[in-house]
Amino acid sequence: MIDSVEIRSRVKGVAKLIHEDYEGKRPILLCTLKGASPFYTHLCDALQDHRQGYDMDFVRASSYEGTESSGKVALSGLNFESLKGRHVILIEDILDTGTTLAHLVPELEEKSRPASVAVCTLLDKRLDEGKIKKYTAKYVGFSIPNHFIIGYGLDYNELYRDLKDIFVISRDGINFDASTLRA
Ligand code: IMP
Ligand code: MG
Repeated sequence: MIDSVEIRSRVKGVAKLIHEDYEGKRPILLCTLKGASPFYTHLCDALQDHRQGYDMDFVRASSYEGTESSGKVALSGLNFESLKGRHVILIEDILDTGTTLAHLVPELEEKSRPASVAVCTLLDKRLDEGKIKKYTAKYVGFSIPNHFIIGYGLDYNELYRDLKDIFVISRDGINFDASTLRA
């Protein structure tokens, strides 16, 4: 769907937008693990080219089993107190229904009392007609059609995160028996 060259070029564009908004400030870039980690790395790299200062932090947010959103979101590994009074930019891999962020952002605001929270997502999935997103991100890398996507950090049951480009998962990809790889 999107190759690595196109991804890297768009990540630079997003970094420029963030720099324009945060010049003179030192935001905390909060990476949602595991999916956003390649995007996070390349975004940090692009922000360095602008001499944009930032602090780094990581949170584990899991809401998915298989290819359907479960609606359940669990947050772990974050010291909420450390975000108090800070400008936080939450770095996400993909925004689908918005369920994850509709839980995560208010929880952050309530527990951390940050100066501001903005969300930056690499991918924003267009929903089927009539469905309304529960959360809208401030920075979006790519708006994509509603397919299940893998690669560049995105997984299907923990598989395919290591692909360099972004793909729509195939039937074979869904049926693949990963135990042969992990022996
Ligand atoms: P939402 O809560 O429905 O917005 O889903 C967001 C989370 O679900 C993302 O952070 C991903 O972890 C996961 N997710 C949603 N769509 C996909 C996809 O197409 N491929 C892989 N993970 C996905
Ligand atoms: Mg995620």
